[in-house]
Amino acid sequence: MLSCTIMESIFRANLLKDKVAFVTGGGSGIGLRMAERFAEHGAAVVLAGRKQERLDAAASAIRAAGGTAETAALDVRDYAAVEAALGRTREQFGGVDILLCAAAGNFPAPVAGMSANGFKAVIDIDLLGTFNTCRAAYPFLRKPGASILSISANHATIPLAYQAHVCAAKAGVELLTKTLALEWGREGIRANCITPGPTADTEGMQRLAPTPEARRAVEKGIPLRRYGTKDELADLALFLCSDAASFITGAVYVCDGGQSLCRSGISGLGPVS
Ligand code: NAP
Ligand code: COA
Repeated sequence: MLSCTIMESIFRANLLKDKVAFVTGGGSGIGLRMAERFAEHGAAVVLAGRKQERLDAAASAIRAAGGTAETAALDVRDYAAVEAALGRTREQFGGVDILLCAAAGNFPAPVAGMSANGFKAVIDIDLLGTFNTCRAAYPFLRKPGASILSISANHATIPLAYQAHVCAAKAGVELLTKTLALEWGREGIRANCITPGPTADTEGMQRLAPTPEARRAVEKGIPLRRYGTKDELADLALFLCSDAASFITGAVYVCDGGQSLCRSGISGLGPVS
């Protein structure tokens, strides 16, 4: 009961009042749920991704729920496009306080079945895209209270077969985040990562475990025996981007039901044999 009361007061708290959040990968999945949570707490959100139609639908839903949302159709691999969208965000809302880098690409393939361009596509979206977004936002973020949050994966520290591109990209994202925390901390900018475990109702898990059998095999390898939810990740993102986390930077928060404690083996997606 006590924890219910605490949670209820948190949900009434408007933790991000007057903040502006720029969210890559904000048109769907985990990035969108986090953006929705930011908007519920008073932030104006700008949803960035490649597909305008999907961004429009997501922004309309946030506005219908009483929030403030705009869109930016762009490819995070295109530095100039990201820079221009951030400039428009500043013109429209007066600044950028929160940067959420959730854009990513993934497909399962063995290294021997992956072309150089396939490997590069994921590195460019996940790692270079995160660099582009952080670098282009730097002039706008230089102020106390600013916060960068990037989305990693367990693949960053635990190798997973058929995911060499994502393993390499997310390892880079985590070290990039820690380096930003070192270099930009003196200017008041915090930089952290969230590492989700398998998350229900997402494109990512639809690609990695598309059948009920594959999903059950993944669940058996998670101590809590279930997928996580986008809401659980959104609550963590809200905390990390709010002043409640004002002394937290360079951290990687694992939210995976304990999967990373026991995942190993050639398939990696299934239970430990
Ligand atoms: P998702 O819905 O497909 O989210 C990825 C988003 O990135 C999409 O909105 C996509 O929109 C955008 N995107 C892709 N390429 C882009 C590009 N070149 N430029 C701009 N935007 C681009 O998948 P998700 O499963 O929710 O994944 C969200 C994040 O969580 C990713 O960083 C992923 O690695 C991470 N993650 C997910 C899981 C999981 O269980 N799902 C587990 C660990 C980590 P457009 O196609 O419209 O561009
Ligand atoms: N197996 C092997 N190679 C694959 C592949 C697969 N399943 N899917 C794509 N590729 C290769 C392509 O063949 C191409 O290589 P090539 O030029 O040597 O043939 C390369 O990857 C790039 O493909 P392309 O479709 O041109 O890239 P894109 O930039 O349009 O799309 C992807 C990027 C491939 C990552 C695409 O899946 C995507 O847009 N994903 C975003 C959504 C997503 O992945 N969500 C989950 C996030 S966890």
